[in-house]
Amino acid sequence: MSQASQEIFQKIIAFCKSKGFVFPSSEIYGGMSAIYDYGHYGTLLKNNIRDSWWRSMTQLRDDVYGLDSSIFMHPSTWVASGHVGGFNDPQVDCKDCKARFRADHLLREFDIEADKAPLADINKWLDELKDAKKLKCLNCGSRNLTAAKIFSLMVKSNIGSPTDELKEENVVYLRPETCGGIYLEYKNTIDSLHPRIPFGVAQVGKAFRNEIVARQFIFRTREFEQMEMQYFIHESQTETAFEMWRNERWQWYLDNGVPAEKIKWYKHEKLAHYASNAYDVTYDFQSLGWDEIEGIHARGNWDLSQHTKHSGVDLSYLDQRSNEKYIPHIVETSAGLNRMVLMFIDLAYTEEKVGEDMRVVLKFPRHLAPIKVAVFPLLKNKEELVGKAKAVYDLLKVRYMTEFDDNGNIGKRYRRQDEIGTPLCVTVDFDTLQDNAVTVRDRDTMLQERVSIDDLKSYVERKIYG
Ligand code: GAP
Repeated sequence: MSQASQEIFQKIIAFCKSKGFVFPSSEIYGGMSAIYDYGHYGTLLKNNIRDSWWRSMTQLRDDVYGLDSSIFMHPSTWVASGHVGGFNDPQVDCKDCKARFRADHLLREFDIEADKAPLADINKWLDELKDAKKLKCLNCGSRNLTAAKIFSLMVKSNIGSPTDELKEENVVYLRPETCGGIYLEYKNTIDSLHPRIPFGVAQVGKAFRNEIVARQFIFRTREFEQMEMQYFIHESQTETAFEMWRNERWQWYLDNGVPAEKIKWYKHEKLAHYASNAYDVTYDFQSLGWDEIEGIHARGNWDLSQHTKHSGVDLSYLDQRSNEKYIPHIVETSAGLNRMVLMFIDLAYTEEKVGEDMRVVLKFPRHLAPIKVAVFPLLKNKEELVGKAKAVYDLLKVRYMTEFDDNGNIGKRYRRQDEIGTPLCVTVDFDTLQDNAVTVRDRDTMLQERVSIDDLKSYVERKIYG
């Protein structure tokens, strides 16, 4: 990362903490690496992004159903999926400063693509770089690095009586991806809702990975949220479904205000043995550069075949019209919600000169803004203004996340709302008491308009949702 990227990254991290978006977890106990908490505004933003995804995936489609499956699943789930034993990353340690790195990330610095490469190859490349005195610890610069070893990303827990804690049969895994629950509820979905193929199941939820590299803020964490959809199809529909979902997902980014030039496709050349196609949506972060936000994968019929084999329950589908019985193939869309929070903050974060002053403003798409409208009485010690402003606040808060603020002068209140990305600020002044109208100030243009309180709800609705 360049010096400038590093600076903007540190600025965004500090900003997120000081303004109540994202906090490092367990800070009073010294913190926990790669675990973060979401403050008031971060939670609201995250929920709005999630809701936009959910609406587009389920409400606006006739062929996708919702699910909320448990984090704990039968341990065989992860044997069947290949995660137990196979969900690993190659790890290199610095013997001096104890920093840990993913070997494939170290090699990427030298344009060596080592994703999914065998450990022996990775160590051969590392040794060559060590011999050429090119390989250094990215943290302290030492050349004293270990060989790569395999590191499991699965997070283990236990269920049952505490005395059974150490028994292997009580080990459960915290799911490393949410789609496992969709496969396990495939049969119940078919039996209860009777959907015809092609159809999809969508869910949002937590996933857990024991990530080696933990220095990328909320981009890569050990606990995170995924928004995944599995689309069940006949093999012959793979290409059409894959292209359809690529288009749908691309359009979602555009509809949510991400400019086309800030996203691009990355096509995977190395695929899992069962997959026939895989693309990532990558976003051009101010700090991290281009990196993955979402994956679209054609997974063949691997998942349901494996669960059929390991559970002994036949997960094939009978097409009533053709009488054909087959194990459905799957096209998956898999997006990281936390990465999207970072993406929308990265995209929105703007420093602007206003006269002699600088303002920081988060130019979120209006429907995603944590707070939609703020209401101010012009003066905090004038009872009639405060009472009227409270009434306006009560009118709006039923429909919108609204804030009431009577601290400091109006200029300072505007700056505070700009910093958290509030699109509209409403001021109740002395004229309001005569004409029942308020001043509405727009975050982006900073222009002010006089609006009758009788029209205020429909005005805000139009300005926020178009
Ligand atoms: N079911 C497929 C699957 O999980 P993935 O590429 O491993 O595919 C999908 O993950 C998305 O989940 C990624 O594009 C990313 O946005 C998000 N993601 C994965 N690991 C993450 C982590 N450690 N922290 C935050 N987000 C992560």
